Amino acid sequence: FNKLAFQQRLLDWYQANKRDLPWRKDQNPYKVWVSEIMLQQTKVDTVIPYFYRFIEKFPTVYKLADAEPEDVLKAWEGLGYYSRARNLQNAVREVVATYGGEIPSDPAELGSLKGVGPYTKGAILSIAFDQAEPAVDGNVMRVLSRILKIEEDIAKARTKKLFESYVRELISEQDPSSFNQAVMELGALICTPKSPACPRCPVREHCLAFSEGIEQELPIKTKA
Ligand code: ADE
Repeated sequence: FNKLAFQQRLLDWYQANKRDLPWRKDQNPYKVWVSEIMLQQTKVDTVIPYFYRFIEKFPTVYKLADAEPEDVLKAWEGLGYYSRARNLQNAVREVVATYGGEIPSDPAELGSLKGVGPYTKGAILSIAFDQAEPAVDGNVMRVLSRILKIEEDIAKARTKKLFESYVRELISEQDPSSFNQAVMELGALICTPKSPACPRCPVREHCLAFSEGIEQELPIKTKA
């Protein structure tokens, strides 16, 4: 597997084809955090207007920390999974109380915050802080299961750790932020669950599933 050629193809494609999303305008860790929490159970198109409204209402960790929980929930209304909003505000209050309002770039500190699991932690560390950390969700597992022909059951909790170790191997140390977002973008635009657009894929020459014609059989997932 030619890692450098793979990274180059993927990153060039991302630079040329990435969507102009509101949380990609800068690397502000607060905005990255809010966007990643919203994106966990909700599609990009739905998140966009909520993200704009939320950031307008609560533009900084201080504003969110000081807000009435009721107003935070109101801004979340329609997105569902409301514990996300409650956890986010609790975590932001912790950031103000314990870290002087600075979102920690230390993995252990960041991961100790309410609602910041391995995925969110990795997304913030890589996208906002340029650290070479994995951010593995279902989309990333789909893309990598095809490229590397990983036949592990992605419904199993343990499997995510396996994918994290593969991302640690593959990630661009030069630009981990773009690398992780490029894999997500590939999963959203090309390497889709049904009928992936392999003819348009920038890394099809590096894809084991494509070379064997089994892209539709991966990833393997036993239960919903
Ligand atoms: N899904 C999860 N995180 C994302 C991001 N940063 N950009 C686009 N889609 C995503």
